[in-house]
Formats: sequence, C-alpha cells, structure tokens
Amino acid sequence: MNFPTQLNAYRQRIDRGLDTLVPSITTRPARLHEAMRYSLQAGGKRLRPVLTLAAADLFQTVAVTAPARSDPLPAAVAIECIHTYSLIHDDLPCMDNDDLRRGRPTAHRAFDEATALLAGDALLTLAFQLIGRHYSDEPALAAALTLAIADAAGSERLVGGQMEDLLAEQKADATPAQLEFIHLNKTSAMITVSLVAGGLCGGATEAQLDLLRETGRHLGLAFQIIDDILDATSDTATLGKTAGKDAKADKTTFVKIHGLEAARRFSREHSDVALATLCRLPGDIGFLTALVADMAVRVK
Ligand code: IPE
Ligand code: IPE
Ligand code: MG
Ligand code: MG
Ligand code: MG
Repeated sequence: MNFPTQLNAYRQRIDRGLDTLVPSITTRPARLHEAMRYSLQAGGKRLRPVLTLAAADLFQTVAVTAPARSDPLPAAVAIECIHTYSLIHDDLPCMDNDDLRRGRPTAHRAFDEATALLAGDALLTLAFQLIGRHYSDEPALAAALTLAIADAAGSERLVGGQMEDLLAEQKADATPAQLEFIHLNKTSAMITVSLVAGGLCGGATEAQLDLLRETGRHLGLAFQIIDDILDATSDTATLGKTAGKDAKADKTTFVKIHGLEAARRFSREHSDVALATLCRLPGDIGFLTALVADMAVRVK
C-alpha cells in the first residue's frame, strides 16, 4: 500500500473508533456530548492516533516469541480525545483566545465557554475510561498505558508546557532553554506517548520503547517548530486556525527567538534525527518514515 492510501486507511479506522467509543449526541446531557463530538469530528490531521496505530504495526511481523498484540485502537482514540481537549482549552479566551479551529468556529464560539470547558474536561476523563475499559483483560498493559499517558498529559508535561507557554508571553528575556521546555512538554510529550502507546500494544521491548521515545521527542520538536513557522508565514484559510496569532500575543516561539531561517533549519535537523532513529526499529518502517517526512513539509 502506498503512503496516502495507508494514511487514509489509518484515519478511517480512527474516525470509526471515535464514532464507536465516544458517547452519542443523544446521550444525556446531549449538549455536552454534542460539543465533544463537534470538536473531535471537525477533522484534524489525526497525527497522534495514526502514530499509535503505525507504531503498533511495526511489531506485527516480529518473532513468534513476541508477546501477543493488543488492539491499539482504544489507546489511539484515547490519545486523540486528550489532544482534542487540549485544543479546546488552548483556544479559550483565558488562554490563546482563538475563534477558529480545524476550519470551524472554536468550541466556545460554537457553543459557549462553560460548555467548551466541560467538553474538554469530559474528553480528558473519557480517555482514561477507555483505557480502563478496553484493556481490563491485560492489567499490566492497562497500567503501563495509564501511567505513560497520564505522565504525558500531566502537570509536568502537556499542562506544564501550556503553563510556561502562557508565562512566556510578552517576555523579552525568554531563553532558548525555556523555549525548548515549552515545546518538549506542550507538544512533544503527547507525540512521544502516541508512539509509545503503539509500542506497548504491539509488545515492544524496553530498548524499542526507548527508540520510540527518541523518535517522538525529535518529531515533536520538529512539529511544534513548524507550527510556529506556519503561524508566522501561512494564512488562516490554509491553516484552519487564525494565522499570525503568536506575534500578536507576543508568544515565545522558535520564530521569535531564533528567526525564520534558523527555525527552518532546526525543524529539518529534528526531523532528520527522528528519521535516523526510526531506522533502528524493527518491522516495516516505510509508513512511519513517509509520515515523518510528510509532517516536515506540511502546510497545515
Ligand atoms: C495543534 O496540533 C497543536 C499543536 C501541538 C501544534 P495539530 O496540528 O496536530 O492539530 P490537528 O489535530 O491537526 O487539528
Ligand atoms: C498548543 O500550541 C499546543 C497544545 C497543547 C494545544 P499552540 O497554541 O501553538 O497550538 P495552536 O497553534 O493554537 O494549534
Ligand atoms: Mg497555545
Ligand atoms: Mg493556540
Ligand atoms: Mg501554534
């Protein structure tokens, strides 16, 4: 299967999984479930759950002595729920105050602030409910997934990165080290755990999980640097979210600290390290290699 066909197949599997595993819009309270589905179904690249499914697939052809594979789909859906919650909250007036997300009005614009806040809360909680429910037959896997995902989404990683992102607004003296902390945590942590969750479901060894962590760290850094570049250089219609917001809010971004040219170079370097690390993993790395390369040249 070529890359676009395979990507499409993964995305369809994820969309079906979301539709099956997230409560329907008629579930009480309907307004809350409608808001959760509104943000999930607005589209998005589905990068993180695709990474989970593709990482799990790396291990499907390895030795018969490998542990049996577990379905990575509930973990992939859980991760997309957490990512979507982080976007809903990121867009709130008290955070980045954005009106557009995934080409549509943000959740608080389409509904109201309180509903958007609660939809985010519910998506975050649903993620752990899905892990508990779907991996109950494999307690060790359920525990490993819970720990890894909670760590990535918690106060020292995703939420911590978001906190420092806000604290670094309008700061003339922000350092490259602070910028790296923000990127590693607000973005790289969830991208890393997406790969790790796939590895855990696929039965990866500890050494292989380390390679997935290293790949995710660099892919995540490249990804957020490109997000910063696109914010500065692209337009709202292409991005499906408001362009030029970072400069307006005087965010500490790669473009602000290092300039556009250096930002482009750093993103290429991190993508290259991610690609080199992938080569040390078993199985057919063709799809993941193409995905990392595709993310390096993305326009949204
Ligand atoms: C946006 O993530 C937030 C960042 C971490 C840069 P994505 O660019 O993956 O957003 P979607 O899921 O495609 O909408
Ligand atoms: C947000 O970074 C990362 C998240 C954890 C949501 P940004 O604030 O740059 O993301 P966008 O540009 O709004 O998607
Ligand atoms: Mg933000
Ligand atoms: Mg934002
Ligand atoms: Mg951004």
